Amino acid sequence: MTDKKRQLEELKKELESKAGRLPLIKKPTDVIFGEGKYNAKIMFIGEAGGYWEAKLRRPFVGNAGKLLDQLIKSVGLKRNEVYISNVVKARPPENRDPLAEEIEAFRPYLDKEIEIVDPKIIVTLGRFSMNKFLPGEYISQVHGQGRFVDFNGKRFIVIPMYHPAAGLRNGRIMTELKKDFQKISKFLEDELEPVEETVKEKKQESQQEQLKIL
Ligand code: URA
Repeated sequence: MTDKKRQLEELKKELESKAGRLPLIKKPTDVIFGEGKYNAKIMFIGEAGGYWEAKLRRPFVGNAGKLLDQLIKSVGLKRNEVYISNVVKARPPENRDPLAEEIEAFRPYLDKEIEIVDPKIIVTLGRFSMNKFLPGEYISQVHGQGRFVDFNGKRFIVIPMYHPAAGLRNGRIMTELKKDFQKISKFLEDELEPVEETVKEKKQESQQEQLKIL
């Protein structure tokens, strides 16, 4: 077993061992961990599992997952060539939005997962995972734009995208989602340049903005 595979399996076991001490995880089988190629170049990060994800204990296997599979295929990739995970590693009751404290409780596990997989590109699906890397942005304004983001000592290309579930509800969003997916291979092959914008630069910008106001 490769080192990365072993580390991911250990991380999953660690999470399962925290049952009863983490929100939404009453028993080890409540954990919905990430899956895919352990050294993938592309990592997709969604929000949290729903009914099918909780039943099968796998991310993105319901209707939104079927669409995600098609979108992945549309850029010449297979599901087992990428890594797929979520911000929250369990199913919130009635599929409600994750709470801030739930996102915070699972943050160290997602951060570790990112560190182990160490992808070139992170595609965020929906606003909860976009907020992790690009806080304060609006998905309607930045979807499909690749940005360099310095995160925990590493530089990633982050491409925020609409959540596939939103694409299933709205034809216009579906069109945008399909278009945005076509950019993945361009960023992968360095045919498209990400915007040089990091979270650090953003903070400086807002300080300058504040000075202007003062
Ligand atoms: N929606 C998500 O955000 N994640 C899943 O795993 C499934 C649906």
